[in-house]
Amino acid sequence: MQKILVARPIFPDVIERLKQYFDVDWNQGEVMPADELTRRLADKDGALTAGDPVGAAALAAAPRLRVVSNMAVGYNNFDMAAFNASNVLGTNTPDVLNESTADFGWALMMAAARRLAESEHWLRAGKWQKWAYDGFLGSDLYGSTLGVVGMGRIGQALARRAKGFNMQVIYHNRSRVALEIEAELNAEYVSKQDLLRRADHVVLVLPYTKENHHTIGAAELALMKPSATLTNIARGGIVDDAALVEALRSKRIAAAGLDVFEGEPKLNPDLLTVPNIVLTPHIASATEATRRAMANLAADNLIAALGEGPRAGRPPNPINPDVIGKARS
Ligand code: DGY
Repeated sequence: MQKILVARPIFPDVIERLKQYFDVDWNQGEVMPADELTRRLADKDGALTAGDPVGAAALAAAPRLRVVSNMAVGYNNFDMAAFNASNVLGTNTPDVLNESTADFGWALMMAAARRLAESEHWLRAGKWQKWAYDGFLGSDLYGSTLGVVGMGRIGQALARRAKGFNMQVIYHNRSRVALEIEAELNAEYVSKQDLLRRADHVVLVLPYTKENHHTIGAAELALMKPSATLTNIARGGIVDDAALVEALRSKRIAAAGLDVFEGEPKLNPDLLTVPNIVLTPHIASATEATRRAMANLAADNLIAALGEGPRAGRPPNPINPDVIGKARS
């Protein structure tokens, strides 16, 4: 039987599925440090990860390893150059999380715009004495301008929801999306600078790459309206969190919603000291149904990539399909 590592706690019934095909080494404890992950990968044919960094050293130490299946759509935890050089397949879990993640983008954006967290903390602290005409004034979403940075599948799902709020949608993306999609979403393609200047609510939904590290820093925040909000459901590192703290403190922008952070799960401690921010622990895809779908899709990818199950040899979501069928190097 081939051996696999499941690097994180996941749904036990998915582990049972994997056990039908593989000898499973399941880490049910804390996130493994890099040296433990490398050690436990060393004799494995495949692995299922969820954001765990896998790079050249781990691949070199695991000569039998043929596939690493990430339970996430984002795979910036994989060094894809090393995967390609070693002929190791990486897989991810796109699509199944689009709608839940888009819903959550809205939840954070609305919470930031309407000061939900800030007012709730204030109420819980027993500070509510009277109704006030100027208590926690926020900004409207209805009829405002939504700026989507990253118009992939999740960005499109997010933009689609803007119709019900009668919002104007502007977007920026590496490349313009098909005209039919623009027409369906009633979305206008603009430069990043134009988007930052015009949007009332900016939402980041782009994948993390070295090139878009700190896509939003002090210079970009300076372009935004003082009444605007910024929501990040993409990846930590796309926003310069220190610059954001400064912009929120100085009211350069009105509010922010962050689900992802530089260096998470550790946070820039200054983020905890600004009131006009909503902070959540990377849960945009976290509904029961979606996390189950992600776990099962990650298992499907692993099973198929290791030549088992009904899709043997044809994993649904290869990231680097060119390595399929090539000998490990
Ligand atoms: C993803 O799928 O990339 C989400 O951020 C969960 O990690």
